[in-house]
Amino acid sequence: MAENKVIIITGGASGIGREAAYLLAEAGNAIVVADFNEEGAKETASNIEAQGGKAATFKVDVSKAEEVEAMVDFAVDTFGTLNGIFNNAGIGLVKPLLEMDPASYHKVIDVDQHSVYYGIYYGAKKMVELGAKGTIVNTASIYGSMAAKGSFNYNAAKAAVVMMSRSGALELAEHGIRVVGVAPGFIDTPILGEDEEMKKALSALHMHNKLIQPEKVASVVKFLFSEEAAAINGSTVAVDDGFLS
Ligand code: NAI
Repeated sequence: MAENKVIIITGGASGIGREAAYLLAEAGNAIVVADFNEEGAKETASNIEAQGGKAATFKVDVSKAEEVEAMVDFAVDTFGTLNGIFNNAGIGLVKPLLEMDPASYHKVIDVDQHSVYYGIYYGAKKMVELGAKGTIVNTASIYGSMAAKGSFNYNAAKAAVVMMSRSGALELAEHGIRVVGVAPGFIDTPILGEDEEMKKALSALHMHNKLIQPEKVASVVKFLFSEEAAAINGSTVAVDDGFLS
């Protein structure tokens, strides 16, 4: 308890982000639950407050630089400092490459890739300005290091996220800021949609033959934000139940 850090979590209205918000709040941190789903973000925050934790919400479209900058300012205005960002909001848009028109490509690049740049850029600048040490965690994917059919856009975005963690870590270490990534396998969240047959097929790709629960990713994220993870820097940790083995 009593970590007393201020951490922004994008995509905090649902899935991995929501579970990470719960665990990091339980550990004594103040959480800015940032999402464009305002209602979901409020639900996450009020659940945190009901458990005695500290949370505020911010409506953001992470694909817009000025909104991410405003999100960072909001965190500092609300809680007085900034010690961490979990750049986690994301979408999928599956299409064969020959149908991957520029709009479908750019949509995923904007939301899944450029958002991470904005979070690192505005977040780190603010931390340096405040003299605050901190950690930035970025959600990549197994598909940041292996190709999947229909995922040309997502593969490109998540591979960039893996490299942004490395490159960001290299430049920010001297400021006391660690940058790391997490690469989930298939996680049981709304992003997977409603197709039960497809989910069954995806389950079989893991060593335990089931989808991974978002809490399992969240607990690794909580660890990555902690002092115990001080020597993990630049790398992306797989939480994939052996998918890539
Ligand atoms: P989710 O759909 O439960 O949560 C994603 C959240 O991001 C939602 O609350 C949504 O409102 C928010 N979001 C989407 N676009 C946004 C935008 N432009 N601005 C602000 N918020 C936005 O999905 P999940 O699984 O929790 O996804 C979190 C991250 O994990 C994503 O980056 C995703 O690519 C990644 N991931 C998920 C996997 C899975 O199997 N569920 C596997 C590998 C990676």
